[in-house]
Amino acid sequence: MNMSVVWLVVAAAALAGVAAWAMRRAWRVAQPWGRWIGAIVGGVVAVAAALAAVVLVIGLYRLRSRDDHPISDIEVEASASAIDRGAHLAEACAGCHSSTGDPPLDGGEDDFLEDLGDLYPPNLTPGGSLADRSDGRIARAIREGVGFDGRPLIIMPSAFFHSMSDEDVAAIIAYLRTQPEIDDEVPERVIGPMATLFIGAGMFPLAVQDPIEEEIDPPDTDSPKKWGKYLTTIMACAECHGEDLQGKDGGNGPSGPDLTVYAEEWTAEEWRDTIRTGVDPTDNELDPDEMPWEDYSAALSDDELEAIQAYIAGLPTPDED
Ligand code: HEC
Ligand code: HEC
Repeated sequence: MNMSVVWLVVAAAALAGVAAWAMRRAWRVAQPWGRWIGAIVGGVVAVAAALAAVVLVIGLYRLRSRDDHPISDIEVEASASAIDRGAHLAEACAGCHSSTGDPPLDGGEDDFLEDLGDLYPPNLTPGGSLADRSDGRIARAIREGVGFDGRPLIIMPSAFFHSMSDEDVAAIIAYLRTQPEIDDEVPERVIGPMATLFIGAGMFPLAVQDPIEEEIDPPDTDSPKKWGKYLTTIMACAECHGEDLQGKDGGNGPSGPDLTVYAEEWTAEEWRDTIRTGVDPTDNELDPDEMPWEDYSAALSDDELEAIQAYIAGLPTPDED
């Protein structure tokens, strides 16, 4: 727990008390005009400070440990095919968890909280904290957003990884353990008062998901739509392209355009080449800082890109809604 936030709660509660007391004093002693000013200023300060204290306490409560989430009993088999599959999937983690943007996942260099605290995507090579953690704890962190030590993660896209199959999450873990040991630790997480306030007010969602109690089977790859839906979900396309993939306007992170019309109109080659080269059929160059096409190109096979297109092409377009 961030002790400076605890002290801030105490200070805000004390301020609320003092302001309420001052308000009552003003009412009793001051001249009529002073009385009103004192009462209004005191009242506003008392209510604002009390509200801040309450929201901060809710934020601290939300940030409590979730180590009571059961630890997954997933089985990881370090076969060559699993490691290869995991290496592909890990490309989709590298944009955040790597200092270079590519595997190995030696820890990110961007502070995701900027002025509101310190939050760096951890080093996930065997040189980091991964080495002494069980497979189940790593699977829980990826799919349920509960950190190795039980802390609720933020920013980590577990909402999308929640439906990842046992096979895929096991493949990622198998791969993570084969990376070179790099022992750069990222700075420890610090969630400052403003970020705690946002979390308390519900304006900043945590990554924590429901515990996964059942096995998650891999998608049916004979059905391009089911396969594509699975991949579109775990690859988090909706995070920037909107829940229905009809584009997103505003909110957190980059705003991606509608994909439903492109998926329908572009040929399989055009779709594939856009993700592989970062240049779309109208010669528009995609900004890699906004649309992580290099990561997706490395993570996804041609068949997988086609399945994603088939799934998105079958979704309603904005005109059809
Ligand atoms: C959008 C950026 C982002 C992406 C993409 C991302 N992560 Fe994370 N991840 C984070 C951040 C930030 C944290 C630290 C969160 C915290 O401490 O609150 C984190 C934490 C974790 C942890 C917990 C480690 C610990 O010390 O408790 C694991 C495990 C993890 N990520 C694995 C993955 C894997 C595997 C992928 C890809 C399948 C992935 N992440 C993709 C940002 C990301
Ligand atoms: C981190 C945000 C983000 C994620 C995640 C993301 N995109 Fe994008 N995407 C964008 C943005 C922003 C653009 C517009 C980029 C530009 O024009 O420079 C874009 C553009 C595209 C385009 C080209 C559209 C055009 O106008 O030519 C395609 C196709 C696309 N994304 C597909 C996907 C798919 C498929 C996924 C999931 C596998 C995905 N995107 C995930 C942000 C994202």
